[in-house]
Amino acid sequence: MSNSLKNVTNINKKEFQKDLIGWFEREQRDLPWRKDQDPYKVWVSEIMLQQTRVDTVIPYFNRFISEFPTIEALSNADEEKVLKAWEGLGYYSRVRNLQSAVREVHEQYGGKVPNTPKEISSLKGVGPYTAGAILSIAYGVPEPAVDGNVMRVFSRILSIWDDIAKASSRKVFEEAVRAFISHENPSYFNQALMELGALICTPTSPSCLLCPVREHCHAFEEGTQNELPVKTKAKKQRKVQLAAVVLKDTEGRTVIQKRPSSGLLANLWQFPNVEIHLPVLGDREQLLSNLKEEYEIQCDIGELVGHIEHVFSHLVWNINVYEGTLVEPIKSSDTLKLVDQEEIESFAFPVSHQKMLRQYYKKE
Ligand code: ADE
Repeated sequence: MSNSLKNVTNINKKEFQKDLIGWFEREQRDLPWRKDQDPYKVWVSEIMLQQTRVDTVIPYFNRFISEFPTIEALSNADEEKVLKAWEGLGYYSRVRNLQSAVREVHEQYGGKVPNTPKEISSLKGVGPYTAGAILSIAYGVPEPAVDGNVMRVFSRILSIWDDIAKASSRKVFEEAVRAFISHENPSYFNQALMELGALICTPTSPSCLLCPVREHCHAFEEGTQNELPVKTKAKKQRKVQLAAVVLKDTEGRTVIQKRPSSGLLANLWQFPNVEIHLPVLGDREQLLSNLKEEYEIQCDIGELVGHIEHVFSHLVWNINVYEGTLVEPIKSSDTLKLVDQEEIESFAFPVSHQKMLRQYYKKE
């Protein structure tokens, strides 16, 4: 057992499980992915819930499941439709990986999500957290499902001072969960930890007086609940300056382009834009030369109509938005299109470009 887990043995495991699971049975929120144990739905919900809040996920989950209700439906779906259903949730590689993994399950496993750690972990986008969540919730396998919430809860219960920002710490917490997980009801045990992290054992000012496992908690006993978990700060986001243009033809149709098939926001659609490395050269000039060189587009760039800031986990986009008009017809392709008001709604855009669409794509 690692040094960090010196308090494992002085907690009464059975009492801890009973208090935690009993509380979950009484207090759990009514969430759409808790209606049944369909492994596919558990999978979709857990992928959506990575990096996204429960309240945001609920309507996306409901729409996604009604559009792609089964492994087969998602396997056969057009990637454009799938991206559109994910539009606004962010971290789009999650859904591209989900669809490839679902296709693999369809083809290699007869449409049944595998139920062993080895097989399930080999699927694209299924890391140790997702594997543990699906195995425990859908199949009742006693595997840990350790995310940031669970690390926070366990850092307090066992007074673990390892830095949870370090990738290597996850193993310590997995070991802790393995030592305590209920073999009778691993599903409720893991979900109760997530629920406790969301409702009671929150990052700042945890509600210890309402906590069902307060009696077992070392941090509460020592009064260190506000110092735990230890989490070093992430690096500051890099700032990127961009100029974008809502470029129209005389009939009010607009130019959109598809982002590259790998990297940030891969395969999403956007208004033409360029990164401004040298502000002295001017936004308009750089937009014009970029559009001409990359797409042979001849246009006029008009007024600066607005400004959009979008914050990602690792960078911040500052976008100046211009109006523009096409001087010549463009050559459409798979990655460059001229679309009208109705057509534009079926393409998936990053949130920053959705804002451009809503704010600056004025209806004629
Ligand atoms: N966060 C991650 N997984 C969750 C789940 N299944 N229910 C609620 N919140 C979660």
